[in-house]
Amino acid sequence: MARILITSALPYINGIKHLGNLAGSMLPADVQARFQRARGHEVLLLCATDEHGTPAELAAQEAGEDVRAYCDRLHQVQKDLGARFGLSWDWFGRTSSPQNAVLTQHFAEVLEDRGLIEERVDRQLYSIDDGRFLPDRYVEGTCPICGHTPARGDQCDNCGSLLDPLDLKDPYSAISRSRNLEVRETRHLYLLQSKLAEPLRAWVDSRGDWPQLARSIAYKHLDEGLIDRGITRDLSWGVPVLRGGVPRRGMEGKVFYVWFDAPIEYIAAAQEWADATGGDWARWWRLDRGAQDVRYIEFMGKDNVAFHSVSFPATILGSGEPWKTVDTLKAFNWLNWYGGKFSTSQQRGVFMDSALEILPPDIWRWYLTAYAPEHSDSSFTFDQLVAAVNRDLADVLGNFVNRILKFCESRFNGVTPEGGEAGPLEARLKADLAERLAELTEQFEAIESRKSAQALRGIWSLGNEYLQEAAPWSAIKTDPVRAAVIVRTALNLVSLFARISAPILPFSAAAMGEAVGETQLDWPEVNGVAGVEAALTRVPAGRVVSAPPILFSKIEADQVAAWAERFGAPREVA
Ligand code: 2FM
Ligand code: ZN
Repeated sequence: MARILITSALPYINGIKHLGNLAGSMLPADVQARFQRARGHEVLLLCATDEHGTPAELAAQEAGEDVRAYCDRLHQVQKDLGARFGLSWDWFGRTSSPQNAVLTQHFAEVLEDRGLIEERVDRQLYSIDDGRFLPDRYVEGTCPICGHTPARGDQCDNCGSLLDPLDLKDPYSAISRSRNLEVRETRHLYLLQSKLAEPLRAWVDSRGDWPQLARSIAYKHLDEGLIDRGITRDLSWGVPVLRGGVPRRGMEGKVFYVWFDAPIEYIAAAQEWADATGGDWARWWRLDRGAQDVRYIEFMGKDNVAFHSVSFPATILGSGEPWKTVDTLKAFNWLNWYGGKFSTSQQRGVFMDSALEILPPDIWRWYLTAYAPEHSDSSFTFDQLVAAVNRDLADVLGNFVNRILKFCESRFNGVTPEGGEAGPLEARLKADLAERLAELTEQFEAIESRKSAQALRGIWSLGNEYLQEAAPWSAIKTDPVRAAVIVRTALNLVSLFARISAPILPFSAAAMGEAVGETQLDWPEVNGVAGVEAALTRVPAGRVVSAPPILFSKIEADQVAAWAERFGAPREVA
C-alpha cells in the first residue's frame, strides 16, 4: 500500500466557481483520489479556499460585507457545493487559518535568516482619494501589451500577461474609479528567487514524472530568468508580517502577498486536518518524519503552473528544511464557454450551483472528465453535453444496467440464477475485459482524464455487445440454463461496472452497486483473465438483486433550449 498526497489548486474565495475551475483542478484531483483509494492506497486529498489578497477584499466590498464575514460565508458555500459534487476532500481548509499564518511567518523567517529575503523600497501607485496604496487588482487600466481595457494590475485577462500595476496605461482605482493617483515609495520584502535559479532548475530536472504541459511551462519560466519577487503588500487583510510573534520592524500593518501564503496552505491544510482529526500531518509533509514514502500529485490550471513550479518551490527549497515537494504536477488547459471565456466577474457560463439545479453531479463529472481541457483548450457547449449524456451514459451504461436488472426481475424473480457453464461468448468477453481493464487502469494511473473515460466507455460497450449477442430474451425460450449463465454474467458486469465507474461517477456507481448487492467498490485486480474471473463471480447465484431507479435520463431538445436561454449561450459556436 502506497501513500498518496493529492492537492488541487485552491479556489479563490470570491464567489461560486464555474465549471472551468471544477474541470481543471478540483474534479480530476477527486477522480484520482477515488481511484487510488479504490486500489487500496492511503490517500490524503486536500483543498482549501484561497482567501487573501485583493480578489477577496474587492468581492467583500462589492457584497457590502466585512471581509472576514464574507470569507466565512463563501467558504461554507464552496465547501457545501464541493460535497454535492462528490469531491471527497479529506480536508477543505482555509488560507486564513491560524495554522497557515504561523507557517507562512515561519517560512519568511527562515528564508530571511538564510539571506533569501531582502527589504527594498518600491514605487507603487497611491490613490489620493482612497488614501491608500493600490496593489495588484486594486488598480485597473489598459494593458501595455495588447491594449485591452480593463486589465488588472497583476494580470491582463485578455492576453494573459503578468503585469506590474505601474505598467498599466491610464490607471484608475478599482475601489473608487478615481484617476487621482501618484507614485509613492513604500518598503517591501523581496524573495530573492534569482539566487535560487540553479537549485530550482536542478529540482525541475529531477521531476521525472511531470506531464508535458507542466514541464514546458516550468522551463519557459526558468529560461526567461527568475526575478526577485515582492512578497508583502500594503493591505490589512492577510497574514500579518510578524517575526518572532511581533510585527517585523518596518513592516507594521503590512501583510504577505496572497501568492506567498496560498500554496503554504497545502501544508497548513494537513495541519488543520491533523488538529481536527488526530491525524499525523508530518507523515505527509516532512521528509524526516515519514514523507519520503509519499507520492505527491498536484492538479491545477495552466495559469497556476509558474507559481507551483517556481515560486512555491523557491519557498520550500529556499528554507533548506526537509519538506516534501511535488512528484507529479498535472496541469490543464482552459475550458471555454462556447469558444469564449467563462467569467466569474461577468457571471458568464455555468457555475457550480446553477449546474446542480439543472442536472445531477455525475452528469457533470462525466462530461468534464470525458471532455476535459486536457491536451488543448476545449469548449463547453450544451450540444456536446447532450451528446455525451445521451450517448455514453443513457444509451450505453444506463441502458445496460436497466435492461439486465429488469430482465432478471421479470424472468428470475430478481434472484441471480444458478447453473450452467460459461461458453465461448463468455470466454471472449473475459479475454476482452482482461485487456481493456489493464488499459483502463493504466490510463487512470497516468492521470489521463480523457483516455480514462474513453477506456471506461469501451468497457461499458463490451457489456452491451455481449448482451446483444448472447440475447438472453431468446435463450430463455429455448435454453433456460443458458439464459441463467448470461444473466449471471451480466449481473456481474453490473458489479464490475460499478467498481470501475466509481472514481468518475460515484453516485451512480453506488446505485449500481446497491442494485446487485455490492457495497465495497474496490478496484478490480488486473492480473489478466484470472482477475476478470474473480470479478465476474462476485455476485453469486442466489443473491437478490433489484433494478435501480433510472440512472441517467436522456436530455431532451426543449431542455437544451431552455438552458441555452437561461445561461445566455451564444447561438453560433465560435
Ligand atoms: O488561480 C487561482 O484560482 C488561485 N486561487 C490558485 C491558488 S493555488 C495555491 F497556490 F494556493
Ligand atoms: Zn493584454
